[in-house]
Amino acid sequence: MQQTKQQTTQPDGAAAAQPAVLSVRDLWVEYRARRGAVQAVRGVSFDLLKGETLALIGESGSGKTTLALALMRLLARSARIRGGRVLYRRDGREVDVLSLKPGELRRFRWSECAIVFQSALNALNPVLKVWDQIFDAAAAHGMGNRQAMRRRAIELLQRVQLDAERVLRSYPHELSGGMRQRVLLAMALVLNPQILILDEPTTALDILTQRAIIDLLRELKQELGFSVLLVSHDLSLAAELADRVATMYAGRIVELGTVEEIFYQPHHPYTVGLLKAVPTLAGGFRPLESVRGSPPDLIALPPGCKFHPRCPFAEQRCLQEEPELLALDTRGSLHGHAAACWYAEVVAKAWQSEQGAQKEAGAPTGMEGEAWPPR
Ligand SMILES: Nc1ncnc2c1ncn2[C@@H]1O[C@H](COP(=O)(O)OP(=O)(O)OP(=O)(O)O)[C@@H](O)[C@H]1O
Ligand SMILES: [Mg+2]
Repeated sequence: MQQTKQQTTQPDGAAAAQPAVLSVRDLWVEYRARRGAVQAVRGVSFDLLKGETLALIGESGSGKTTLALALMRLLARSARIRGGRVLYRRDGREVDVLSLKPGELRRFRWSECAIVFQSALNALNPVLKVWDQIFDAAAAHGMGNRQAMRRRAIELLQRVQLDAERVLRSYPHELSGGMRQRVLLAMALVLNPQILILDEPTTALDILTQRAIIDLLRELKQELGFSVLLVSHDLSLAAELADRVATMYAGRIVELGTVEEIFYQPHHPYTVGLLKAVPTLAGGFRPLESVRGSPPDLIALPPGCKFHPRCPFAEQRCLQEEPELLALDTRGSLHGHAAACWYAEVVAKAWQSEQGAQKEAGAPTGMEGEAWPPR
């Protein structure tokens, strides 16, 4: 198994501003398939800090959902965690999630760490009224007090701006997509978890409902203080909600940094590719470019850097050696700006000069626009 630079569970470099509620170290996940092993997550390490939103971005098939599911041990049967550690911390206790027993794991899920799934609109049981679903799930967690549970459910449904009494009496099909998404959000928060994982929370919603959910999430997070792992291929959503961003490619984090670092000073050619593929909010005439080539076959990955077949900066070294996530500043590779690229500085300079040239030509640059990142 490949060694990562980080072997300890302690934050590296300068002390992180907040303690880590979740530390993932050198996590490897694969799926068994007929053709061989699908290397879906390959040596991922990161910290989720208290109260922060960390966005995991990357194109389809890069391993985002697999990583999120692995953290809660909700993977499909065909998946196997090949190695690594997932450490969860609360009130000075540290728990190794990967070695929790079934009963402990049930308690961990939902009450400590809740997830709103991708395609969440189908996640509600169609034959149960909303209240019955909430109560059944709460009872399974040992929350047997019906009245207290109902009060909490009403409070949260009101917080997500729903007519709580009506919603509790409704079947899922009686609610719109946006309403169901809010119900799921409220349900996820019922047991006051410290971590909320959101997998593509707004992808299936219209733009106004998306807006409402984003505002709501921001408010709830501020109020309740949980940490969010936001999985999305929507860069504008990440820019809007995240404090830090991790770019994922072929099962690995290839760049990590604050939202400003990732959007204004990208150092990995894949992050640059993603940024160039997104229209600016201000509109304008900047030509959009797709990332050339297609995502790699995770069963037969190329040697060296997995991005090299698509990379305009690739040199001989990239064909042979895969770079790990290398720190770009003194904050270290887990809490500072880091990129898994041998030529990160060359990439960053090329991006900056392209931005400069576009600015001179009067075109909107990078993520520039009235509200990008919108804060
Ligand atoms: N149950 C499964 N069995 C076999 N392979 C799987 C399974 N689930 C996912 N994979 C494969 O693992 C890889 C990573 O998939 P994953 O769903 O984690 O990607 P993702 O980044 O979440 O993509 P998307 O943005 O489309 O949701 C893909 O190649 C996918 O085909
Ligand atoms: Mg996914």
